[in-house]
Amino acid sequence: MNTAQMPNGKSVLLAGTTGYIGRYVARELMSRGYRVISLGRRAAQEQSELFEQIIVDLCDAKAVADLKNSLPECSSIVSCLGSKTGGRRDAWAVEYDANQSLLSLAQDISTAPFILLSAICVQKPRLEFQFAKRAFEDSLIASGVPYSIVRPTAYFKSLAGQIDNVKRGKAFMMFDTGNRTACKPISGEDLAEFLCDCLDHPDRFNRVLPIGGPGPAITSEEQAEILFRLLGKPMKTRKIPSVFFQIVNGLLAPFSVFSERLADTREFLRIGHYYATESMLLWDEKNKTYNPQKTPEFGSDRLETFYQIVLETGLQDHDLGAHKLF
Ligand SMILES: NC(=O)c1ccc[n+]([C@@H]2O[C@H](COP(=O)([O-])OP(=O)(O)OC[C@H]3O[C@@H](n4cnc5c(N)ncnc54)[C@H](OP(=O)(O)O)[C@@H]3O)[C@@H](O)[C@H]2O)c1
Repeated sequence: MNTAQMPNGKSVLLAGTTGYIGRYVARELMSRGYRVISLGRRAAQEQSELFEQIIVDLCDAKAVADLKNSLPECSSIVSCLGSKTGGRRDAWAVEYDANQSLLSLAQDISTAPFILLSAICVQKPRLEFQFAKRAFEDSLIASGVPYSIVRPTAYFKSLAGQIDNVKRGKAFMMFDTGNRTACKPISGEDLAEFLCDCLDHPDRFNRVLPIGGPGPAITSEEQAEILFRLLGKPMKTRKIPSVFFQIVNGLLAPFSVFSERLADTREFLRIGHYYATESMLLWDEKNKTYNPQKTPEFGSDRLETFYQIVLETGLQDHDLGAHKLF
């Protein structure tokens, strides 16, 4: 098929198609008539005339650079890549190196804009994967390639880790008071729509775009309230002090110097502590606080409806990956 036969005549390079958000983005792009050229290390399941895939290890810079002579003309590039583990080495290999290879490819074949799926938590970076994401954001901004950097709050799936347990009569676990952190969760469909809109909105170019789902912001305790209400059961919660992560981390410190595995375990504990204590909302640097009102909202899907569907039909496509605890 050549581009002139395409419903809208445009092709988009998409990385991360096999991931949670990447799948929604691929479907949204095709529904808008884009031809999707998927780049990834394993085959995606999409079946469409508008879908083509190239199997390539995006962490192999040379393999990605070699694609430049064989790719069809593409109008833009969308990266939905993410480190599966958040481990230190994997974080830099995926969040930075792989995205950097995509950026070089985009420059070689004059493809723009570059739409990057990032995360709202990088506004207060403390973790290795956040530093890697920020380093790539900076590189993209400095590249001269038109970009939109989309920094979403928590995904619905990241708030689904306890549905099964609660359904089976267990307590909903929360950290500290259960009200220390909040977020404006966003569905995969709504986020895909927002990302794809960036392609046609030059007013979103060269901007960093924090984005949440429809408000208001919701705490862990409020998530539990929704779940128990939908189940028609009395609230049953267990509160865990977030300092737990720091204590275990401290105990492991002397042993992690010579062990990459233990160093990663300590990083996972730091990730746990971060999400237990930091909100996924816009950070107001001046007032040193998270600001729910100023956190932009998009979409119409509600967490309560998502919970209802998962309670009735199970998690299905919303595999939790590394997010079982949250
Ligand atoms: N979870 C949240 O609530 C949340 C909130 C805000 C932002 N984010 C960010 O959103 C992004 C996407 O999240 P997600 O849940 O959709 O992630 P995901 O399901 O883990 O998908 C990640 C994608 O990256 C690909 N990938 C990972 N390592 C790779 C490698 N070495 N080479 C090639 N491809 C590789 C995966 O391919 P394979 O299928 O081959 O592994 C997959 O397609 C991440 O950057 C995440 O930090 C997440």
